[in-house]
Amino acid sequence: MSQPVAIITGASSGIGEAASRALSSNGYRVVLAARRKERLTSLASQIREGGGEALVVPTDLGQLEQIQHLVESTLRTYDRIDVLVNSAGYGKLVWLDEQAQAGIQDQIQVSLIGAIQITREILPWMIAQSGGHIIHITSIASWVGVPTYSIYAATKFGLRGFLESLRRELRGTGIIVSGIFPGAVDTEFDQHAGVHWKTTRVTPNWLLLTADDVAHQILKVIEKKKDNAIIPGIMRLAIWANAHFPGAVSWLMAKYFYRKEGKTVAWRDTEE
Ligand SMILES: NC(=O)c1ccc[n+]([C@@H]2O[C@H](COP(=O)([O-])OP(=O)(O)OC[C@H]3O[C@@H](n4cnc5c(N)ncnc54)[C@H](OP(=O)(O)O)[C@@H]3O)[C@@H](O)[C@H]2O)c1
Repeated sequence: MSQPVAIITGASSGIGEAASRALSSNGYRVVLAARRKERLTSLASQIREGGGEALVVPTDLGQLEQIQHLVESTLRTYDRIDVLVNSAGYGKLVWLDEQAQAGIQDQIQVSLIGAIQITREILPWMIAQSGGHIIHITSIASWVGVPTYSIYAATKFGLRGFLESLRRELRGTGIIVSGIFPGAVDTEFDQHAGVHWKTTRVTPNWLLLTADDVAHQILKVIEKKKDNAIIPGIMRLAIWANAHFPGAVSWLMAKYFYRKEGKTVAWRDTEE
């Protein structure tokens, strides 16, 4: 019963699914959370067949009572929480005037407020345990604003500020707070982005990460107790350029995203 316990949100696909497998392979009992129960159940079966232990708790991060139920179920079953990997999130990457009002609210609820609420629910237990590791999957979009990413960037910039403040707030408690900031990752993310051109082809293969790359980084962050991980490392250059030469970055982006005769034009639209 001394095996550590990790809650993973967004475990039904992409980074969360890869993180669940990686944590299980590394001796964690994993609690799988997302809305699609069939996907979680199938992942849990595979983990158990491989000798691991998994608990499925279908959870909508848009519903506070479901977040509370997730934490309660974990504690009832395992009586401890060592790691939170919060990977649930999505972004509709369209121009602001094309965003539905309800969609704006839902994106911010799931990707920012839900992320904060699950952390808030877990925190008292980690404080009582005098330790734990809180990890959120954010994005390079936490540092660099891009046209059509306004709502997504609002959630990810917000998450970065939340993590930095919380890390300082928890100094000396034994609780580690980390942000993983990936560039483009080959997952189902683009299927929910709401734009036909936003496929993995947008990013050259040499820059594109796999979900396993990110899962590997999560294990590294846990092992080394790192605050932040920006991957791939070359993305630091984009963050640096945006901080020091924002005008040049805006000029460059205007070549790919612009309005012409009242129409919005974005990158791949011009090529397809
Ligand atoms: N892919 C990229 O290029 C990329 C780059 C940087 C950062 N990220 C971030 O990485 C994280 C994971 O994304 P991914 O690339 O792995 O995409 P993904 O394969 O689409 O996974 C997204 C996950 O979020 C879950 N989710 C969505 N809405 C939810 C809700 N209301 N309640 C609970 N879970 C919900 C989904 O599960 P259900 O639909 O089953 O609920 C799914 O498991 C996201 O936070 C994303 O912003 C992705």
